[in-house]
Amino acid sequence: MTAPLAKSTGEAVVPPDTLVRLESVSKVFGKDDEGHRALDDVDLEIRRGEIFAVIGYSGAGKSTLVRLINGLEQTTSGTVTVDGVDITRLRGKPLRAIRRRIGMVFQQFNLMRSRTVFGNVAYPLQLAGLGRAEQEDRVAELLSFVGLLDKAWTYPEELSGGQKQRVGIARALASDPDLLLADESTSALDPETTREVLALLRRVNEELGITIVVITHEMDVVRAIADRVAVLDSGRVVETGSVRDILGAPQSETTQRFVAATVGNRPNADRLQQLREAYDDTLVTVTVTDERALGSVLSAAARRHGVDFEIVYGGITDLKHESIGSFTLALRGPDTGVLATVDALSAAGTVEGATA
Ligand SMILES: Nc1ncnc2c1ncn2[C@@H]1O[C@H](COP(=O)(O)OP(=O)(O)O)[C@@H](O)[C@H]1O
Ligand SMILES: [Mg+2]
Repeated sequence: MTAPLAKSTGEAVVPPDTLVRLESVSKVFGKDDEGHRALDDVDLEIRRGEIFAVIGYSGAGKSTLVRLINGLEQTTSGTVTVDGVDITRLRGKPLRAIRRRIGMVFQQFNLMRSRTVFGNVAYPLQLAGLGRAEQEDRVAELLSFVGLLDKAWTYPEELSGGQKQRVGIARALASDPDLLLADESTSALDPETTREVLALLRRVNEELGITIVVITHEMDVVRAIADRVAVLDSGRVVETGSVRDILGAPQSETTQRFVAATVGNRPNADRLQQLREAYDDTLVTVTVTDERALGSVLSAAARRHGVDFEIVYGGITDLKHESIGSFTLALRGPDTGVLATVDALSAAGTVEGATA
């Protein structure tokens, strides 16, 4: 007797901690052969409970990516899985059921001008058929979470940009989503208001346990809020990883440009050339996540090997839970001593450019 074979459903096996998965996703607008390829063979995995950022310049395909995840667009090829369900060709009721579990926050807030703050936040609850009393309870809860309970009866035009976005976030939370998609949600805001809205998104993630996908063209936003990041360039993911790894050691040219724009602690190529001309020493750049450890390693090694050092460039960049320090050092002394010092530094962090 032969044992019955396990039935294959043909579906990919998705690990349980994966909330969203894109596999070989391409999206072409217009005719396949002459159309515009907005996304090109994208693989992504967003884990439950994380804040995942997608960064890219304008036109990179970020909004298209968002619209594929919430089922507003369909892929040209490849699959999108949300919470284990392949939504690639889903329509009608089952698609609406998935979409109810996804909240959206927009750059231009998209509030209804003719409705009060209460009316805006209550709208999705009304659509879901909740009674007036339930709506009132839920809206009060949401507005106090975002700190706008006292604005319930005002109209959007009376609010500041930051307040409007907080209403947008309250509305997105109304249906109790598992996933929040924030497409350039701070791009219309000034830096101070941006910080407030990012702090609120962090509370949404940490206190409510909601997974967030943050779409942005600013590395500062990624740095302040995200756990992991994917860099999108002309429809392709050119790099993906933890924010710490990406900021500490950006690999692709696009990522390096994004990092240079936010992290002021690494000299760019021109500046490095200037430094090389100014210092007749070995220049190295050390990137560390524990700058205090670097300090002690550096001074001990320099002393032991008879090497002088000078910090010629550098600084510390704060991330969500940690910081990255990057310091460009001029090392002066006997060749063997300099080499031994570089060796010791390698134990404390990543060392680049150890050429005399
Ligand atoms: N509905 C559409 N029809 C045709 N082209 C589109 C459509 N949506 C987006 N595109 C094109 O796809 C590319 C990516 O757009 P988008 O996803 O909006 O980028 P981003 O959000 O990163 O700025 C752009 O070249 C854009 O013009
Ligand atoms: Mg966009």
